[in-house]
Amino acid sequence: MTDSAQTLPVPEAVGKLYDRLTLSAMNDGAFNPNVHIGYWDTPDSEASIEEAMDRLTDVFIDRMRVGDSSHVLDLGCGVGGPGLRVVARTGARVTGISISEEQIKTANRLAAEAGVADRAVFQHGDAMKLPFADETFDAVMALESLCHMPDRQQVLTEVCRVLVPGGRLVLTDVFERFPRKEVRHPGIDKFCNGLMSTMADVDDYVALLHRSGLRLRGIVDVTEQTTLRTGQELAKLATVEDRPAALDESNFHFPEDDFQPSDLAGVDDFGCLLVTAERP
Ligand SMILES: C[S@@+](CC[C@H](N)C(=O)[O-])C[C@H]1O[C@@H](n2cnc3c(N)ncnc32)[C@H](O)[C@@H]1O
Repeated sequence: MTDSAQTLPVPEAVGKLYDRLTLSAMNDGAFNPNVHIGYWDTPDSEASIEEAMDRLTDVFIDRMRVGDSSHVLDLGCGVGGPGLRVVARTGARVTGISISEEQIKTANRLAAEAGVADRAVFQHGDAMKLPFADETFDAVMALESLCHMPDRQQVLTEVCRVLVPGGRLVLTDVFERFPRKEVRHPGIDKFCNGLMSTMADVDDYVALLHRSGLRLRGIVDVTEQTTLRTGQELAKLATVEDRPAALDESNFHFPEDDFQPSDLAGVDDFGCLLVTAERP
């Protein structure tokens, strides 16, 4: 199934969704600056969800190959957790962009509180039409954001335009693993409808990158390290006594009528790709 056969997300509506989720996370008190899945290197890793979320950002940092003279674009930056970690760990300057105004307010507040407002700047904008000049960035990171964008081709073409030659793109994206089921698992439909997302087609990914002008450096199925394990860990949290608080801290506490992470627990065809590419 390609993007065109799925209901395409509308950026303004995605922005409102994340405004709502951001405000409700703030009201709940517990707050996690990462809005993404975790990464566990090995099946026997005992990392907590919070540690595994930071580990995913570190996996991106290793692949981007940036240092203190670099300028990184965080495409779909959430409330700034990953971008601020890049600043802290590499010294790079980060510009983040999100379609959610509330996320941007929060991300800039967190940057100021961390004393790095001069190194990390977050702004409202649409990844479909990036408000940056050609060849502005040494690297682009996109943690779990392309699934919300209505046209992956257009976004990747924009990414190529704003990267310097030799600059790297690292992203994670969701896809349905082989063998494709005739009828999708209902949890995947709930995810796509509830979180305004589409599933990528892994067979198309290399062509998408190439048509955008990007050279593929690596494409890996990291489902076991990420989505599948995140689902297992959340299912464990759901059994602890203070369930809402535990889930709040993990940042996976959605309003009751919405999609719930448990809808995807154990669904091993809900896959995650880790892609590295560069502008030649
Ligand atoms: C699952 S969150 C990931 C946030 C962040 N990357 C992280 O890992 O914490 C998806 C992000 O993509 C952003 N996003 C979705 N569609 C967008 C668009 N068209 N333009 C810019 N940002 C977008 C959302 O606003 C949100 O910040």
